[in-house]
Amino acid sequence: MTSAEEWVPHDGGMRKVRSTLPECRGCELWEDATQVVAGEGPVRARMMLVGETPGDHEDKEGHVFVGPAGRLLDRAFDEAGIDRSEVYLTNAVKHFRFEREGKRRIHKTPSAGQITACRPWVLRELEIVKPDVLVVLGAVAARALLGTGFRVTQQRGEKVELPDGRTAVATVHPSAVVRSQEFTRDLERFVADLRVAVKLLG
Ligand code: URA
Ligand code: SF4
Repeated sequence: MTSAEEWVPHDGGMRKVRSTLPECRGCELWEDATQVVAGEGPVRARMMLVGETPGDHEDKEGHVFVGPAGRLLDRAFDEAGIDRSEVYLTNAVKHFRFEREGKRRIHKTPSAGQITACRPWVLRELEIVKPDVLVVLGAVAARALLGTGFRVTQQRGEKVELPDGRTAVATVHPSAVVRSQEFTRDLERFVADLRVAVKLLG
């Protein structure tokens, strides 16, 4: 099993994480991606959110949540009273995973092996940021941070404890809301879960 572990610096801060991340060869996803997409936001953010993997837009632009999922997230942040500039945003897997269909690049969910391989990066970010509340967006991030037994559909919006004692709350991935047939209802539920996270900040 491959892992990012040998590339993840355990000294230095976020600057060191950002500078070493592009060198990572912890799994094969770097080969076809345009670039690695690092987490963004204040290193001392009280809230940290973890998504899945960069999408097509993020891969091209090199920034987290700048495509359709990001726009949905911005709208939900507004409704939940969260200031995007005050949160730390990152992904469980740092390179875009896709399949080509003609000229299009179609997002593919990272495999269990890729999630495990990339996990040391998000754990290091968590160690540096030390958020008061971690928001886990979707099943991939839940697998990385809450384990394989966690069921987002059943446990979303509940306060959960991380192995290090930190507080977390899981919800669906914003892309699932974007694609939803019941958009208004699912956006409301997503915003309600974010409000739980805001409340947990105290
Ligand atoms: N989806 C994610 O999980 N992360 C991004 O950065 C963009 C889309
Ligand atoms: Fe490394 Fe993660 Fe990229 Fe794989 S996806 S090469 S583990 S940074």
